[in-house]
Amino acid sequence: MWRPWSFPFQMMQKHPLAIRWFHWLNFPLLSLMIWSGLLIYWANDAFFAFPDWFYKRANLEFRLSDGMQYHFLFMWLFAINGVAYVTYTALSGEWRALIPGRGAFAQAFQVVLHDLGIRKEPLPVAKYNAAQQFAYTGVVLMGLGSLVTGLAIYRPVQLGFLHALVGGYQNARTIHFLLTVSYVGFFLVHIAQVVRAGWSNFQAMVTGHE
Ligand code: HEM
Repeated sequence: MWRPWSFPFQMMQKHPLAIRWFHWLNFPLLSLMIWSGLLIYWANDAFFAFPDWFYKRANLEFRLSDGMQYHFLFMWLFAINGVAYVTYTALSGEWRALIPGRGAFAQAFQVVLHDLGIRKEPLPVAKYNAAQQFAYTGVVLMGLGSLVTGLAIYRPVQLGFLHALVGGYQNARTIHFLLTVSYVGFFLVHIAQVVRAGWSNFQAMVTGHE
C-alpha cells in the first residue's frame, strides 16, 4: 500500500520490502536465464537470430552443456521467486496498484500522449499509471509463459499435456525464444522510463520510500 508517513518527513512508503527483494532478485536471475539460454541456443540457431561474430565476441560458442546446467539450475530459482512475488502481491493487496482496471486502455493512451509531449496536463497521481500497469502485469504473464513453454521443451514426454496447451514442441520453442527477445525490449523501455522518472523513483525501489 502506498501510504504517507507521518510528520515531519513527508515521505511516502512506496514499495514493501518483499516486493523490493523479489524485484532485485529477479534481475540477476533473469539475466542468468538469458545468458545460459543463449549458450543453449548457439547449438541450434533455429531462427538465424545472431551472426557468428556475436557468438564469438560474447563467448557463447561450444558451451551447450554449461548452458544446460546453468539454465536448469537457475530456472528453479527464477520460478520460485516469481511464484513468491505473485503470491505475495495477491495476498497483500498490492495487486490493486498493479492490475489494469476499468478504463485502463484509455488512460494508457493518455500516458503515451503525455510521454510524447502531446498531452500537456499532468497525469493523475497514482503508484503506477495505466501504461505501467499493462507493462508490469504483462511482464509477469511473460514470466509464466516462459515457465510453461520452458517446461514443455524440458520434459516433452512427461509434461506432454503442456504441448497441447502451447501447440506442440516447435511452437513452444518459438514462443520461448520470442518471450526472451521481449524481455530485452521490456528492459530497454523500463530502464528508459526509470531514468526519466528520476533518482527518487529509483531510490524508492531500493529503500522503499520516496
Ligand atoms: C537495472 C535493472 C532494473 C532497474 C534499475 C529497475 C527499476 C525499477 C523501478 C525504479 C521500479 C519502480 C517504478 C515506479 O515506482 O514507478 C521498478 C518496478 C518494476 N520492475 Fe524494474 N528495474 C530493473 C529491472 C527489471 C526487470 C529485469 C524486470 C522484469 C523483467 C523488472 C520488472 C519490474 C516490475 C514488474 C515492477 C513493478 C513491481 C511491483 O510494484 O510489483 N524490472 N523497477
